[in-house]
Amino acid sequence: MAFYLTPPDPSSVHDCSIHISGAKNSLLPIMFSTLLIKEKTVIKNVPLIKDLYGSLDILDFLGIESSLENDELHLRNSGIRNKEIGEIFTNKTRYSTLLLGTLGHLFGTAKVAFPGGCRFGGKRPIDIHLDALKNFGATISESKDFVSITSVEKSETPYKLRFPSVGATLQCILFCVLGRGTFIIQNCAKEPEISDLINFLNKCGARIAGQGTGELIIQSVEELTSFTWHLIPDRIETISYAIVAALLECNITLHPVNWAHIQLPIEYLERMGVPYFYEKNTLTVLGRQVKELKPIEIETSPYPGFPTDLQALIATLCLKAKGTSQIREKVFQNRYLYIIELKKAGARITQYNQETIFIDYSVDNMKETAMLCKDIRGGMACVLAALICKGKSLIKNEDQIYRGYTNLIDNLAKLGCIIESI
Ligand code: UD1
Repeated sequence: MAFYLTPPDPSSVHDCSIHISGAKNSLLPIMFSTLLIKEKTVIKNVPLIKDLYGSLDILDFLGIESSLENDELHLRNSGIRNKEIGEIFTNKTRYSTLLLGTLGHLFGTAKVAFPGGCRFGGKRPIDIHLDALKNFGATISESKDFVSITSVEKSETPYKLRFPSVGATLQCILFCVLGRGTFIIQNCAKEPEISDLINFLNKCGARIAGQGTGELIIQSVEELTSFTWHLIPDRIETISYAIVAALLECNITLHPVNWAHIQLPIEYLERMGVPYFYEKNTLTVLGRQVKELKPIEIETSPYPGFPTDLQALIATLCLKAKGTSQIREKVFQNRYLYIIELKKAGARITQYNQETIFIDYSVDNMKETAMLCKDIRGGMACVLAALICKGKSLIKNEDQIYRGYTNLIDNLAKLGCIIESI
């Protein structure tokens, strides 16, 4: 799948409002947590992304019935019937890894194929997940294609993550939330999407304390009962469109947004010279007031630091900054697969080592080309680069982007972009 993207002429770019979807990275763990929840869960503000449909296929296979009405998802758990899940399902989303702890708790044994999803150019390790599960009492065995829990005897020994991994923190929560005992997880991730899962589970009857502090205390409960949940707004989608406004020099109003979750990246954009106005969960990025963008130095880190998921996107904005910007990627080694694509369009980006890149002003140089989407954010970076290319760029393998963005094509068209699907 591919499409041609022609950016609007500066005189014909439109201002517009864009609805921000619920957070992708909240949706998937909350969906998988319904394996542990009796009866019916309702999730509102659901992003209609490709990973949603992939995760529904997985839940259907495991025994959860679902129905989707607009952006409201109903999930009914009337008994889980499978504890082995093959590659055909785990390829649909990387977060299928979370099934290990969940099914392991439910059945005492579980077998899950190694997952799909964004790889960023290499295998994404799950050693922290497995080490944490072992610490909390799971016996693990691994083969070439599968990882299994062969028995569970829960242990309350506190566990300290060697790195605050988002996925491993979620894994611990889902493994420990039900049953008996008190489980302490130290140096855990503090991302807002983890708090969203915890807030949801606590409403269902869980007893999890310490969210956002780096140390979670989980007092297991006997059962979780159904609740209706409204997902937090997707902070990465919000900033993606803020960057679109700066690149196209138009005003974009984004709603709903959670200010605490976007404040830091918005401050970076402001430092670069992108003005904004915020009031009552609504952010208006004043791209029409952008004069000259300034270069910036950024280092990604776990929340509350600058998100790695925005690294490729802000790199694209740096192509418009007068001077040399520097980005250091500290969360995922070599998350730079997109650079080669942007260079085809004329981007002046130099990779210094696996962590560091330098980006020079390139807009005068940028022209139409074909760019390949290799992962969600790298794919979105190709779209953003096309917005500052002269002519009609070809965006290939667009499905990668739809794993994380709802209504992207409609939103680009609203701004005046010409999209031709091929
Ligand atoms: C989640 C997000 C992803 C985001 C990332 C960091 C979802 C679906 N995905 O991914 O969008 O970019 O958090 O904010 O929510 N690591 C290990 N061993 C492990 C686990 C992780 O070495 O067992 C390493 C990873 O290779 C990476 C770092 O830890 O270098 C962070 O990974 P992690 O926080 O686990 O990211 P994900 O949960 O995979």
